[in-house]
Amino acid sequence: MLLLLAGTTEARQIARALADRGHRAIATLAGATRAPQTLPLPTQRGGFGGEAGFRAFLQQHPISAILDATHPFATRITERSARIARDLGLPYLQLLRPEWRPGPGDRWMMIAREDQAARHIAPGATVFLATGRQSLPGFANLATDGRRLICRRIDAPRAPFPYPNGEYLLGRGPFTVAQERDLFARLGVDALVVKNAGGTGSAPKLEAARALGLPVVMLARPDPLDIARVETVAEALAWVRGLGRTQAGRAAGGTP
Ligand SMILES: NC(=O)c1ccc[n+]([C@@H]2O[C@H](COP(=O)([O-])OP(=O)(O)OC[C@H]3O[C@@H](n4cnc5c(N)ncnc54)[C@H](OP(=O)(O)O)[C@@H]3O)[C@@H](O)[C@H]2O)c1
Repeated sequence: MLLLLAGTTEARQIARALADRGHRAIATLAGATRAPQTLPLPTQRGGFGGEAGFRAFLQQHPISAILDATHPFATRITERSARIARDLGLPYLQLLRPEWRPGPGDRWMMIAREDQAARHIAPGATVFLATGRQSLPGFANLATDGRRLICRRIDAPRAPFPYPNGEYLLGRGPFTVAQERDLFARLGVDALVVKNAGGTGSAPKLEAARALGLPVVMLARPDPLDIARVETVAEALAWVRGLGRTQAGRAAGGTP
């Protein structure tokens, strides 16, 4: 049985393809979103309960391989899963979509950490934070000098915005370029802060920023880990097919 570490558009596409083929698989979600879109596979939500919980999960289920299709910035789950798979001799693959690259008309400034955003954004600016609510603690210095922060999130907040001069905006993507452009114009956005997530699903905000001539402060990807990796859903599904052949070869006594 394949373990699909999910939480991205690509994971949903893989789940759909596996379900269509009747492939035995279980998907897991961190539980970061209260009402996630359902996956067409048996799904466990809410994390494993740390490293010990993950090891116990692998013992309790007949997991024969791990396909990690988590977000490029979800580095803890990826590092841990790859390391434990290696310990246990389980086949493991990360699906990591390519980074975004700036094109003509883009005004991007690259940063390595959230606390570097403030040096690129003028005092008094209205800033659209597309980095997720969990990143807010890193922007404490951005929330100074009269800047107004607007942080988009999926779930209704259960606590007030952590800074006095900011607010949450509820919304679940995908959004079109026109929707993003209208939103940024209506809110009077002066600059965006974005994680270099890559992929097409959340790229419309970058096109909208380009159309409006807005600067984008781009948080760089964490350093890549030295693990088996592909970039596309098609490659990940080919790897899954290859596993089936390897296992059939082993069962028939052939060369693995
Ligand atoms: N980071 C982002 O910007 C971002 C953006 C969009 C979507 N996501 C998705 O949101 C989830 C959480 O992201 P994160 O950055 O908080 O991850 P993380 O820091 O790498 O992982 C934090 C903890 O969340 C649990 N977890 C993460 N992914 C899981 C999965 N697919 N299945 C089961 N448990 C999982 C694990 O909890 P236990 O220790 O209890 O096992 C893990 O220790 C990920 O699945 C990711 O794909 C993240």
